[in-house]
Amino acid sequence: MHLLLLWAVAGLLRSTLACTAPEAVDVAIVGGGLAGLSAAVQLAAANKSVMVIEARDRVGGRVLNVELPNGGIIEAGAEFIGPTQDRVISLAAELGLGTFATYNTGENVLWHNGTRLTYSTAGPDVAPPIDTLSLIQLATALAELNSMALEINASAPWTHPRAVEWDSMTFGSWLDNATPLQSARFLFDVATTSIFAAEPRDLSLLYTLAYIAAAGNETTPGTFERLTATAGGAQDRRVTGGTQLLAVRLAERLGMEHISLSTPVRHIKRIDEGYKVTADGLALRAKQVVIAMSPPLAARIDYEPILPAIRDQLTQRLPMGSMGKAVALYDTPFWRDDGLNGQAASDTGIVRSTFDSSPEDGSYGAMLGFIAADQMRKFDAKSEDEIKAEVVKDFVNYFGPKAASPTSWVIQRWDNEKFSRGGPVAFAPPGVLTQHGPALQQGFEGIHFAGTESAPYWIGYMDGAIRSGERVAKEVLETS
Ligand SMILES: Cc1cc2nc3c(=O)[nH]c(=O)nc-3n(C[C@H](O)[C@H](O)[C@H](O)COP(=O)(O)OP(=O)(O)OC[C@H]3O[C@@H](n4cnc5c(N)ncnc54)[C@H](O)[C@@H]3O)c2cc1C
Ligand SMILES: *[C@@H]1O[C@H](CO)[C@@H](O)[C@H](O)[C@H]1NC(C)=O
Ligand SMILES: *[C@@H]1O[C@H](CO)[C@@H](O)[C@H](O)[C@H]1NC(C)=O
Ligand SMILES: *[C@@H]1O[C@H](CO)[C@@H](O)[C@H](O)[C@H]1NC(C)=O
Ligand SMILES: *[C@@H]1O[C@H](CO)[C@@H](O)[C@H](O)[C@H]1NC(C)=O
Repeated sequence: MHLLLLWAVAGLLRSTLACTAPEAVDVAIVGGGLAGLSAAVQLAAANKSVMVIEARDRVGGRVLNVELPNGGIIEAGAEFIGPTQDRVISLAAELGLGTFATYNTGENVLWHNGTRLTYSTAGPDVAPPIDTLSLIQLATALAELNSMALEINASAPWTHPRAVEWDSMTFGSWLDNATPLQSARFLFDVATTSIFAAEPRDLSLLYTLAYIAAAGNETTPGTFERLTATAGGAQDRRVTGGTQLLAVRLAERLGMEHISLSTPVRHIKRIDEGYKVTADGLALRAKQVVIAMSPPLAARIDYEPILPAIRDQLTQRLPMGSMGKAVALYDTPFWRDDGLNGQAASDTGIVRSTFDSSPEDGSYGAMLGFIAADQMRKFDAKSEDEIKAEVVKDFVNYFGPKAASPTSWVIQRWDNEKFSRGGPVAFAPPGVLTQHGPALQQGFEGIHFAGTESAPYWIGYMDGAIRSGERVAKEVLETS
């Protein structure tokens, strides 16, 4: 009886404590990925008191280093950076992180129609080994996409005179017309699924053009090739020690006392002085709030009062890509000795695009296979063993029998991650950008939206995430 009474008193005390006035900060930043951390560091530098509230037990979000027993790391999320990604490049330098060129020596593999071909990409006039008519179609379609993208204002794609027309069709239906030859089309299919982790039929043409326009900076227009290229493109370089170090070092710079881990935010409520932010295990008052995550994740938080319809409906309409990585580890990067750069493009298999993901010193081999779009959807609910069996078949097709026996694996399925629900980016199907596009960036009464999806340049990339964090910090400072 006494014990029970004590128990009840303790419970009462706990609930009383939970009801006492929560801690207060100038800005609560919800999400500890590169967007949230970049915003937090900028705001702290301007003497704002901040708290980053992160759902996971780590910082980084869609950047994640997986440690290997041999001391190496595999990047299970974002891995590559390249020219015109000015913000991520300078951030790496500011944080004392080195970079190195993605391995790109030797021939590419093309697996097409059941046949393996290799070809060189060194030199000015190199082209994939497909028939001449298909090559012409490929080149014409590329030129047309780039010239349409050139007309797009990366900050406001919906203002283009043909925005409604382009937003009324999918990239797939545009390709049906532009590249009827299968040998030209399949190369676009491979590129699209590796860039967006979505099929061409999933994407609005306007959104695809905006994404191309975003693959550049204020002075260098975006091109489709910059999205797909290794040398000189988005896959040009890697970060020594792995990209999660960008997030870890930003967090250290901010100070871990300004970051609350393992505290998913559930509820954001307007109060007199701003907002009350309630997470599992934490409640906080803040004058302003930054939501730094993809729109579909932001939609899982309960806002009181509800957000304006344009914003809420935007978040109802942007799905995450379907994305996984399967990295097979080998004693050596054996494909290098066979004259291959480790990059394959394929029209079949679970893996249709690969990269050499070995460490800078090549001391062991890491073959990265992207599992994207329809392929990932097929395997989201399968076992890891089933995935490995399929991936290894593809790697043997592309790189020969030595690929048959990896020493170990890293497999990461972002679709099954509670606080990501897919990757690399939330994309726009037809009809969304022209109706709801402005709500990507537009804040509302002290609530501000960051995340790579809201960036003008390098949407979907680490660089875009950092740009969005810096933009939102400026916005907060201007309105406080
Ligand atoms: C497989 C893969 C490969 C990629 N490859 C590249 C690449 O090579 N190069 C490149 O530049 N980019 C790449 N990207 C994209 C890149 O990772 C993202 O663009 C970038 O990391 C997004 O950062 P962010 O801060 O906008 O969002 P996120 O990293 O998603 O951060 C959002 C944060 O919010 C947290 N969160 C979610 N819900 C809540 C909640 N309710 N309360 C509190 N916190 C919450 C999440 O846990 C997360 O930490 C890749 C992504 C994936 C998945
Ligand atoms: C922040 O505060 C410090 C110490 O009070 C001061 O030296 C610095 O100038 C302030 N910086 C800004 C941007 O206000
Ligand atoms: C854009 O990128 C190019 C190439 O990396 C670079 O030379 C230029 O300085 C960048 N422009 C801006 C405004 O940063
Ligand atoms: C694919 O291969 C088959 C025979 O193996 C051939 O008949 C067909 O023309 C090829 N298709 C293309 C697009 O190369
Ligand atoms: C692009 O759009 C932005 C946002 O609407 C606007 O401020 C800017 O002036 C536009 N740029 C051009 C060149 O039209």
